[in-house]
Amino acid sequence: KNILFVASECTPFIKTGGLADVVGSLPQALKQNEKMEVRVILPLYNEISIEHRNAMEYHSSFHVQVGWRNQEVTIYSMEYNQIIYYFVSNEYYFDRKGIYGYYDDGERFVFFSQAVIEALKHLDFIPDVLHAHDWQAALTVALAKISEPIHDMKTVFTIHNLKYQGVMPLGAYHDFFDLPTEHIAGLEWNGMLNCLKAGLFHADKITTVSESYAEEIKIPYYGEGLHPVLLDRGEDVIGILNGIDTKEYNPLTDPNIHVNYRSSKVRKKENKMFLQEKFDLPVNSDIPLYIMVTRLVEQKGLHLVQHILDEFMQEDIQLIVLGTGDEEFETFFSEAANRYPQKLVTLLTFNEKVARQMYAGGDFFIMPSKFEPCGLAQLIALQYKTAPIVRETGGLKDTVQPFNEITNEGNGFSFLNYNAHELLTVLRYSLKVYSNQEQWSQLLKNINKCQYSWKESAHKYANLYEQLIPIFV
Ligand code: GLC
Repeated sequence: KNILFVASECTPFIKTGGLADVVGSLPQALKQNEKMEVRVILPLYNEISIEHRNAMEYHSSFHVQVGWRNQEVTIYSMEYNQIIYYFVSNEYYFDRKGIYGYYDDGERFVFFSQAVIEALKHLDFIPDVLHAHDWQAALTVALAKISEPIHDMKTVFTIHNLKYQGVMPLGAYHDFFDLPTEHIAGLEWNGMLNCLKAGLFHADKITTVSESYAEEIKIPYYGEGLHPVLLDRGEDVIGILNGIDTKEYNPLTDPNIHVNYRSSKVRKKENKMFLQEKFDLPVNSDIPLYIMVTRLVEQKGLHLVQHILDEFMQEDIQLIVLGTGDEEFETFFSEAANRYPQKLVTLLTFNEKVARQMYAGGDFFIMPSKFEPCGLAQLIALQYKTAPIVRETGGLKDTVQPFNEITNEGNGFSFLNYNAHELLTVLRYSLKVYSNQEQWSQLLKNINKCQYSWKESAHKYANLYEQLIPIFV
């Protein structure tokens, strides 16, 4: 059976966040199931590298009408790691710098969605299930249902992040679509046209990327205004935990890191000293090293860190922060690094190689998110035997169990409330465990047993597709 993924990002072609990792790695895992063929369709952004472009072939071209704009669409295709990718090319919408952040992002992804639906008539591939990810692809689900259906295609919509919804004035409905007025209700929310809501309303099944988040988004605190819609969909909202590509993120083979290791404490310390040297910190493998690899945005709980950083810096520790994002946090962390040159390093860039070196050399990974649909960084940290310190929310709660010195269980540290001093308390507790040889070894032993590959979750997606197409044999 045929599954078509629709998304706005996918590794290795284009990435701003975890969405790209999932759209890149899940098809690889699903392909182990011989009954299924998964292909992926994406916009052809200017940012996609020349090497990838050179590997693409012309597939077909046609026109779509976005309001008064008659736009030409060219579809290119390429095979990469035995998966076929299609790229939707259009100069006006996608031949721009960057990926998002344009005044007309709404229109750009209306166009993308219309182009994908139209492309279904031209592709050499007839999907049984169209599986769309996040708001940028959500309208494909709605259009598949309300524009003349080509065949009996089922739809799955996955929420990676509910915060971004693709909201436009309601007038966009008649400006951009040639659809009867009766369908407006499915696309409307709070008097606006809301792409994400359209996906939630029309999809046969809705998934999100952890079980806890699937429950959380049904209450106002996490629902981003859409909790009534999610409540309405009830049992159709399913949580399936993300995995990571454990071949890619493997400290034993990762060419980016200083020394490879499986579970050796000594080797890990060598990686730590390499980092200390590289970033001009005092070189001493006994000092506990905390790391953060994150987008510098509010979601990631940075206000909590901001609040208690000075107090935390009184401890004998080191901290390295890597990431880019909001100016507020960029300024805060670079100023703080100036105040604590012996303890704190701030790297305002995103660099995959340095990130891997940090995962390899760190003792603790701090991720106190306000909300977290799944979170991949804590899983990568676990792969590199770095203990995650997280807030108990969404996927963080589902993947990190707090260390318990009585039962000896747990693979990290966690706290419940979105409160800076709870974070500080757990940070101090992590230091106590670090300084207790026996407890620290026990924690690392527990971390060694963790497995967060795609295996189990890919099965769950396959079962879901099977449920939708019962003739799936
Ligand atoms: C988004 C979410 C993150 C999730 C990722 C992939 O980036 O914020 O929690 O892991 O999507 O699903």
